[in-house]
Amino acid sequence: MIEDKTADQDAVQEAEKSAYEKAAEEGVDPRCIPQSLDGPPPVGDEIEYPDYTDQDHANWKYLFERQMKLLPGRAGDAFLKGVEKLGMTPERLPALADVSSNLKRETNWEVARIPGLLHEKDFFNLLSNRQFPSTDYIRGEDELDYTPAPDCFHDMFGHMPMLTQPEFADFYNLFGKAALHAEGADRPRLERLHWFTVEFGLIKQKEGLRIFGAGILSSKEEVQHALSDEVEKLPFDPAVIVEQDYTVYELQDTLFVLESFEQLVEGFTDWCMSRGLLSENDV
Ligand SMILES: [Fe+2]
Repeated sequence: MIEDKTADQDAVQEAEKSAYEKAAEEGVDPRCIPQSLDGPPPVGDEIEYPDYTDQDHANWKYLFERQMKLLPGRAGDAFLKGVEKLGMTPERLPALADVSSNLKRETNWEVARIPGLLHEKDFFNLLSNRQFPSTDYIRGEDELDYTPAPDCFHDMFGHMPMLTQPEFADFYNLFGKAALHAEGADRPRLERLHWFTVEFGLIKQKEGLRIFGAGILSSKEEVQHALSDEVEKLPFDPAVIVEQDYTVYELQDTLFVLESFEQLVEGFTDWCMSRGLLSENDV
């Protein structure tokens, strides 16, 4: 009897542990565990500017300058123009409220401040409302080369400039709507479409291939690797992308190339309509 009682108590204790506590025991970085929002996050002007340290600003400056040196001839025009339109400079961490009002002016998107990696429904819900979920803390000095966790260098520098591109901005809003409707195998299919466009997309410009994916643009290693001959480049085709496997923690060996951002909107919309994930009302 005594043994049974102890087992019951253990089971209750286990059930009451937070995901963070369980992850810490299993050795998973707790910052990489998705969390749910407990209410609407602050958006635009509601977002307060954090009390950043001098070291935080120095980390932003170091990362910003290092990437910007690598990007000419590699990043697409849309991204580079986006950095300017959003008024990002190396001098200090941008205020999410300021970036949000610039995005509002450009493509009617806003920024929502979130505490870390979100559960997918919360994430898609924000995208479907033209609100980009962003953290406001930056990686520490010991993680400047690589961090597995979300941070605002990736969210702001990697993602937000592309949201000033009108077709990309519309595509990402449609992505949020489609993802809210996806069930079963369509969920990983959409995840692959996200990976090979938003995070790891390439596009043809008249000067040659260029990068627009945030996962490449915010990474020192990927940005030097993505356009090299070590990477197989395939034409953008949603039907192929949704079956394409990838690994998260290694350099990518296959990427997909857009002809234009119009092709992204059209190809994505057609594929989603064929799966019943978008309807005429959504587009
Ligand atoms: Fe990302």
